[in-house]
Amino acid sequence: MVKKKGIKWVVKRDGMYWPSEAMKKSANMSDSKIYSKSMKNPVAFWEGLAREGLTWEKEWESKNAYVEKLPYFEWFKGGKINFSVNCVDRHMGNSSRTALIWVPEPVDEKPIILTYGELYNKVNRFANVLKKYNVKKGDIVSIYLPMVPEALIAMLACARIGAIHSVVFSAFSADALKARIQDAEAKILITSDGYYRRGKPESLIKKAKSAIKKTTIKNVIVVDRIGKKVRGKMFKDFETEMADVDSYAKPEIMNSEDPLFILYTSGTTGKPKGVVHDTGGYAAQAYWTCKWNFDLKPEDTMWCTADVGWITGHTYAFYGPLLTGATSLVYEGGPDFPNPGRWWKIIQDHKVNIFYTAPTAIRMFMNINQNWIKKYDLSSLRVLGTVGEPIDKVSWMWYFNTIGGGRCPIIDTWWQTETGGTLINTLAGVGPFVPTISGKSFPGLSHKIVNEEGHSVKKGNKGFLVQQSPFAPSMLHGVFKNHKKYVDTYWKKYKTMYDTSDGAYMDRGLIRITGRTDDVMKVAGHRLSTAELENAIHDNSLVLDVAVVSMPDKIKGEAPIAFVVLKSGKASKNLEKKLKSYVDSKIGPTARPRRIFFVADLPKTRSGKIMRRILKALLVNEEPKGLMTLVNPESVAKIDLILQGQNILKK
Ligand code: PRX
Repeated sequence: MVKKKGIKWVVKRDGMYWPSEAMKKSANMSDSKIYSKSMKNPVAFWEGLAREGLTWEKEWESKNAYVEKLPYFEWFKGGKINFSVNCVDRHMGNSSRTALIWVPEPVDEKPIILTYGELYNKVNRFANVLKKYNVKKGDIVSIYLPMVPEALIAMLACARIGAIHSVVFSAFSADALKARIQDAEAKILITSDGYYRRGKPESLIKKAKSAIKKTTIKNVIVVDRIGKKVRGKMFKDFETEMADVDSYAKPEIMNSEDPLFILYTSGTTGKPKGVVHDTGGYAAQAYWTCKWNFDLKPEDTMWCTADVGWITGHTYAFYGPLLTGATSLVYEGGPDFPNPGRWWKIIQDHKVNIFYTAPTAIRMFMNINQNWIKKYDLSSLRVLGTVGEPIDKVSWMWYFNTIGGGRCPIIDTWWQTETGGTLINTLAGVGPFVPTISGKSFPGLSHKIVNEEGHSVKKGNKGFLVQQSPFAPSMLHGVFKNHKKYVDTYWKKYKTMYDTSDGAYMDRGLIRITGRTDDVMKVAGHRLSTAELENAIHDNSLVLDVAVVSMPDKIKGEAPIAFVVLKSGKASKNLEKKLKSYVDSKIGPTARPRRIFFVADLPKTRSGKIMRRILKALLVNEEPKGLMTLVNPESVAKIDLILQGQNILKK
């Protein structure tokens, strides 16, 4: 039997779920009129939130609260703030409260608990370490760390001295790290010797060492996680450095519109772009979305399972919970190590209240022996969240019943690396919580669903999701060193509205997201571009031409499939395996194609454009359309023949 004990935070009415009286009474926000109230004057509304939620050194002048000169816009211009002060210093009145619970993967290792006081000390010290290595305000610091406390310490230390962090996902390859270091021209790298995955130590330093060759990196600070000796003049030990510096670093007072971090993400072209996020607006949204979406309170423990290499890890595993003075739980390792009960045991042991994960993980746990979950007491949970890809009704209901015990609201948050914080979802204290539906624009924001020309579609019709002015405070402030890319990607199509590249439609007055409308895939919630993957495969000397398309996958949502034309024509034995490891080395295993098919030719138009949608149709056994436009229609039947009998959909 599923354990249903615990307070009931939702009730069912009219086929939807709503906050219960208990939830409404205790929630940070339970006024359903907040939406209409906020839209009377959204700028004044956000000003109020920024004032109430954050600690400013100096306030902005009201006339500069929102300055829009499209395609750029700035929030709280002239306001002075330090982000680390907001995450740490201002909670020092309660310095013994837990800021971070870090759960290592090996079960014989004890969790590390950091109070706000301890975190304050470490952030200050590491800020001084950075200064010792000549890192100054405006410099970019590359961080290539797994889920360890030092990642948070390093990020906050950057914020303390006004340096801009660029975190690179630790599962990315050396080449991927190198490209990001080079684009950012970072002069220091923070990394670790390795981490634990599925019971085994994995090296990270090898990849880091190879990545920094012929880059601007002068020093590397290495966290000792797996006890590997790291030799070399450039390499310094994290703890040794920390012991050797002052315990106080004066926070650098920044402008609200100064960049806080860069995070590289995939677009429709081969090269990842550096999404730039400013300080004040991002902080305001991270704070209020935690409070209202997840009803996060200082006494709560929030566990967001996302890795810090992705935006969800930045905003909801680290920054949002700290801004609100709550406790964040971070887990180092694999979800099913040493057994599939690990996550649920962590929730029970640490009495997690807010749990935020991705549909891929939900689908994975739906397919295991349910006793691994049912034996744990999950009654501490109050709010559940989901993010990263559309969630289907069956998975939603399973999450609701099995993990939430039918008691907890599910907050389906729609947002992007570019938006910095959540933009569309239901508020825990307001509702309704409807399977597959994200909800409404967060108060003070507005979205529309439009056609190609930018006109609103009829209610219920599918269209493109756009955001309207005033744009969210946490929105990106450009693409690093690439104005053209910023304009082309987000503003070219609709000029005065931000193009999300997502499809959506309205259902009962709420927004339902249908997924990306461009060549971006969501594989296990990870964002990948087909072009980036094609570039990586194309770099292999054996490859003449390549096309990558995604196909539906029961667990991961989507899986990449590659069609490769070889220079020599015939594929040697094991070539599929070899090319897959080649992708691992170029991007990382998250991008590894599920299958690679060797074909004689790719379907192309007269102008040479590869018709990926024809390949996609073949993969899912649909009739391919538009063959007349091809210069080589015979290629389609040949590829179909290769695919036949492969049972690709079932794998
Ligand atoms: O397609 C949308 C999907 O994830 C994309 C953004 O990916 P990324 O920048 O990696 O950020 C993911 C975490 C914020 C979006 O364009 N997406 C995100 N959340 C949802 C979603 N699709 C459906 N429902 C969601 N809740």
